[in-house]
Amino acid sequence: MEDVYILGIESSCDDTSAAVLRNGVLLSNVTASQEVHKAYGGVVPELASRAHQQNVVPVVDQAIKRAGIVKEQLSAVAFTRGPGLMGSLLVGVSFAKGFARSLNIPLIDVNHLQGHVMAHFIKESDDDKSAPPLPFICLLVSGGNSQIVKVNAYNDMQVLGQTIDDAAGEAIDKCSKVMGLGYPGGPIIDKLARLGNPHAYSFSEPHIPGLDYSFSGLKTSFLYSLREWVKDDPDFVEHHKEDLAASLEFTIVDILMKKLKLAVKQTGIKHVAVAGGVSANTGLRNAFHEYADKYGWTIYIPKFSYTTDNAAMIGITGYYKYLDKDFCSIDKPAFSKVTFQ
Ligand code: KG4
Repeated sequence: MEDVYILGIESSCDDTSAAVLRNGVLLSNVTASQEVHKAYGGVVPELASRAHQQNVVPVVDQAIKRAGIVKEQLSAVAFTRGPGLMGSLLVGVSFAKGFARSLNIPLIDVNHLQGHVMAHFIKESDDDKSAPPLPFICLLVSGGNSQIVKVNAYNDMQVLGQTIDDAAGEAIDKCSKVMGLGYPGGPIIDKLARLGNPHAYSFSEPHIPGLDYSFSGLKTSFLYSLREWVKDDPDFVEHHKEDLAASLEFTIVDILMKKLKLAVKQTGIKHVAVAGGVSANTGLRNAFHEYADKYGWTIYIPKFSYTTDNAAMIGITGYYKYLDKDFCSIDKPAFSKVTFQ
């Protein structure tokens, strides 16, 4: 069989990324992150789409160059069609459509959430055997989503539970903002949490039935507690930021892991993976190892570079869809709403 070269393009939020894969093996993965949002404490959609417009051509160009190929060798263009910020998606989607049309090659649309899960199938070499066996359970935790997914096949994923309000990453980012620590809060909280006592403070945990999550109550509980403490000591955050971060991280990880444990019990599947930006979190990674030891799970934790938004995960999803000839017509629009279809 002829070699299959896939160009993956990701532009759903604030990272412009392009990757090239040959027969499912990653050749290049180039990401331009947008520093402009830091000053605003969160992603500003209009600024994000403008930055994507500036970045998309050089990022794709670099990805093709670093892969050591020429664009005429590409077999197909895979792109994130949604969910995400509409203005951001439009840049990647429009570029992908124009590029595929100009090269006269197929277009493949990829769901961003499925892409995060598929990050586990990215191969760095021909003999890379790190992918989990099917079926497995995947905890998908990012800035926009918190879900427990049963992965039956790369094109057959079942959402067993999901957040009914905020995502875990969103809660961490908002609590970090309330503490005046900056954006994105995840890595800042992670760093501080390593220096603090996870049992210094307790915040209310949700009581949601089944495998669904909720993080908005925790966020409110954190905010109200902080307001009280600051009344007595205006420098409370500065004096206790490590303990606050450690306690917040502990509570979030505890909520995530308890439901995950329930999902494993209900399905009987002990191959458990984690994906999405929050899977970079040290506390969550440690908890995965603890649960593996305690409950006999086999765990799959992606490399840091494949946890946050990246085009390698879009490319690998595109590769499997290519093998199935699951192509997308040029008139399919971007979508912003969270869905797994
Ligand atoms: O998957 P991602 O890059 O974007 C979305 O698709 O949402 O996830 C971004 C989220 C942000 O909320 C960020 O704060 C969080 O992942 N994050 C972390 C860490 N690194 C990134 N959260 C906790 N600990 C980290 N080390």
